[in-house]
Amino acid sequence: MTDAPAPKPGILDIAPYVGGKSSIAGVAEPMKLSSNENMLGAGEKARAAYEAAIKNIHIYPDGRATKLRDAAAEIHGLEPERLIFGNGSDEVFALLNQTYLTAGDNIVCGQYGFLAYRISALGCEAEVKLAPEPNYKAEVDALLAQVDDRTRIVYVSNPSNPTGSYNTAEEIRRLHAALPASVILVVDEAYAEYVTEADWETAFPLAKDAQNIVVTRTFSKIHGLGGLRVGFGYAPVKVAEAIDRIRLPFNVSVPGVEAATAALADEAHQTASRELVSNWKPRLTQALRGFGLEVLPSAGNFVLVMFDGPERAAAANEYLNTKGIIVRPVGGYGLPQALRITIGTEDQNRAVIDALSEFAAT
Ligand SMILES: Cc1ncc(COP(=O)(O)O)c(C=O)c1O
Repeated sequence: MTDAPAPKPGILDIAPYVGGKSSIAGVAEPMKLSSNENMLGAGEKARAAYEAAIKNIHIYPDGRATKLRDAAAEIHGLEPERLIFGNGSDEVFALLNQTYLTAGDNIVCGQYGFLAYRISALGCEAEVKLAPEPNYKAEVDALLAQVDDRTRIVYVSNPSNPTGSYNTAEEIRRLHAALPASVILVVDEAYAEYVTEADWETAFPLAKDAQNIVVTRTFSKIHGLGGLRVGFGYAPVKVAEAIDRIRLPFNVSVPGVEAATAALADEAHQTASRELVSNWKPRLTQALRGFGLEVLPSAGNFVLVMFDGPERAAAANEYLNTKGIIVRPVGGYGLPQALRITIGTEDQNRAVIDALSEFAAT
């Protein structure tokens, strides 16, 4: 036998996703500020629900995640049957891609758009068309200029990772209004709960009456449950029904359903998490700017810091590592001159400020 099993065309051209680093050799408990997780951890209610779920982990989960579905629908004022649950919102993107893309179709997203959209699209033998983001922000006209008759899905993260930029409600409405009815607009609102900008709005109301909008949310960010993998999309009924045909039946675990449901009801934890970010994001931004670094405005729980070129960013990254701090190089997004830093606890933020102050002086 000379022929080895060959993956589908294009699979081996996909650059493997490199997640946030989680360890530093010789450092027992590094400060991990690389994946925009909630540095307060999960809330008390979610932890208690997770622990209580242990008595049921021998039982397959409810394939419809009914308890969580009803709770999420109630809290956001949505129709339960229009929700698609996934193993993180990443899985919702993958399911959308698998359901709507065939070879030669394309998705459109911003130049710095979240990588998860692209990976599974390429896995469907689709193309990825990137709209330029000269100001590190998805521009409506640039996105529309990429749309052609093979476009099936346009992805916008709002706010956006890794840049932290956001699109106003007006921009999202204009984008949707100009898209052909056959193209799905996915508005990824993973960081929605952190946004304080007055001209930002959730796209849930816009999606309510549309046949081609999917709004996604995650439990990995403000709810502090990244390790459990739970997210959902709010979709038109026909989209939800189509996706349900390929969705694996037990894609959200028993502890995932229980902890996520409890997290939704834990307003105190959400408030504390939001306040940590709204207090520290401006302080961290101001401090780093004071060292001569460019820090992009961010609507999320992280900031993108620009250095004088890729070498300087790599050196800063290494310096932070020597201080036990892990941040996120974003060369995979075409931003080798930048580092993304999650807003942490007070001690963590102070450690970042001290380390970058020292580094800036070198
Ligand atoms: C913009 C954006 N969307 C979605 C996700 C993924 O969320 P989940 O953990 O639900 O898959 C992330 C995670 O970093 C993100 O930054």
